[in-house]
Amino acid sequence: MDLQDELKKHVAAKAADMVQPNMVLGLGSGSTAAFFVADVGRRVAAGELPGLQCVPTSFQASVLANRNSLALTTLNEVDRIDLAVDGADEVDPKLNLTKGGGGCHTEEKLVDARADKLVIVVDSSKLVERLGQKMPIPVEVLPLAYRQVEQKLTDMGGKPELRMAKAKAGPLITDQGNFILDTDFEHLSNPGQLEEQINNIPGVLDNGLFVGLADKVLVGEEENGKFHVREL
Ligand code: 5RP
Repeated sequence: MDLQDELKKHVAAKAADMVQPNMVLGLGSGSTAAFFVADVGRRVAAGELPGLQCVPTSFQASVLANRNSLALTTLNEVDRIDLAVDGADEVDPKLNLTKGGGGCHTEEKLVDARADKLVIVVDSSKLVERLGQKMPIPVEVLPLAYRQVEQKLTDMGGKPELRMAKAKAGPLITDQGNFILDTDFEHLSNPGQLEEQINNIPGVLDNGLFVGLADKVLVGEEENGKFHVREL
């Protein structure tokens, strides 16, 4: 296992300790969240979490939940979500996030925004001074509207690029059957305002800016060969 995976594993284990019996738990997406799902699965198998119900944020999360024998439910079947644990692509000093590297940010935002408490699990490489510094902002769009959304994002000063699939010809298709425009905003100074502006464009489902949602960020770090988890 490489260093980054070791950090992800440690931070995921810390978050798994926060899960309590009878909770409704939001399961995030991505490789760090996958370690978390495996850890929760181990606690369920040990009989430590009776009554736990999980709401997935993607097909990836629901497949992993099935493999780890976690009971699944859906957004429309629950009255609340007690805790959601999710990964992120970038975390700024105010705990605002960029998400959607895995193309699941629309469903992730539905679950994460609904949770009473949102805990983000990252390794230290995800900390940035400014969102958009390391990766463009993913914007999920209806396929029939992608050209006009592309134009609007360009008018707003962005540089949108249609995300292409890796093992299929053509664009990546999200879990909801849409396209993603990865949009570079060189001078992103007000993420809250930009999040709203992008979501006001007709044809946009949601974008990967998560502003004011995270309650806690757990950061996996390594120093002199020792792993530890810092809480922000
Ligand atoms: C998927 C996401 C992921 O949470 C984000 O990309 C982080 O993934 P990883 O833990 O693999 O770095 O937002 O849409």
